[in-house]
Amino acid sequence: MPEVPTPSLVDLTSHIDSQLARILDDRQQIAAERNLICQHLLDQDAPTAMFLNPDAPVARSVWDRVESLLQERVNQRTPLQYLLGEAWFYGQPFMVAPGVLIPRPETELLVAWACSVLEEQAQEQAQSPTHLLDLGTGSGCMAICLKQRFAQTQVVATDLSPDALAIARQNAAYHDVALTLLEGSWFEALGPVSPVASLQFDLIVCNPPYIDAEQAKHLAPELGWEPPTSLFTDNPAQLYTTLFEGAQAWLKPGGSLMAEWAFNHADTVLPVLKQQFEGVFAFSVQPDYAGHRRHVRGQRRASFL
Ligand SMILES: C[S@@+](CC[C@H](N)C(=O)[O-])C[C@H]1O[C@@H](n2cnc3c(N)ncnc32)[C@H](O)[C@@H]1O
Repeated sequence: MPEVPTPSLVDLTSHIDSQLARILDDRQQIAAERNLICQHLLDQDAPTAMFLNPDAPVARSVWDRVESLLQERVNQRTPLQYLLGEAWFYGQPFMVAPGVLIPRPETELLVAWACSVLEEQAQEQAQSPTHLLDLGTGSGCMAICLKQRFAQTQVVATDLSPDALAIARQNAAYHDVALTLLEGSWFEALGPVSPVASLQFDLIVCNPPYIDAEQAKHLAPELGWEPPTSLFTDNPAQLYTTLFEGAQAWLKPGGSLMAEWAFNHADTVLPVLKQQFEGVFAFSVQPDYAGHRRHVRGQRRASFL
């Protein structure tokens, strides 16, 4: 019987690329997913390994593991992060599973903005922040990055979903940071019986489920794997109104609520917020990588207008 030739690294990476090209148009995304698969299953950096030794043999067992992962990725459209069990955020790995939203790159910009606001505030007040709140923490990615940056600060992270909180707890343990995790709807999680009931926060971050019915019609099949409660809202204006209403009571004067929203919400939701809360909050927005006004900050005025 003729011997089956052992596949090489270049055979494997071409195979991954051609399979991913069946579902993805974007060459950069194909390359990013291919590198993640190789890093994870071959424990090596694909571009470097390809450059150093493209003809290196790939064990049949490794090929078979990649093949079964590709089957699920391509045929079931399962997001790669769920198949690998981790997602990268702010340069670090976070455990993810279908009970929790996969952290998105644009949310890293919200964390970066929150850090710079807190640093500025700390300089002005000659005092580090004492209490931060992450509403709808999901995997805990924002809360954990903030706690890493402001180690002396109490970081409270809430979610409606017990599954999400369980994953946030595991991520906090993995990154060796202490979070106060509370279950409940938005500010109700802090309610009268909670240990933080008498506190006010220097800053609140929130990346709520903000996809509306119109946008939901145009989503990639991969989003069908993520919990609907982490993605969709019936009424974006009502959602952000609820958040700013609650923030009035829970923010220190001068503190900020900083939230992510959809690419068009600066046009549709910001006017509603300004009309209702201009006297209480000074609003500003920041763009995402694509230039959309993706993040909103409402800074609580020292005294109401
Ligand atoms: C878009 S995900 C954001 C997750 C995480 N903060 C991130 O940026 O990756 C929204 C999160 O809000 C949670 N959530 C949805 N409705 C909620 C509510 N009424 N109260 C608290 N959390 C809620 C979801 O379970 C989900 O974890």
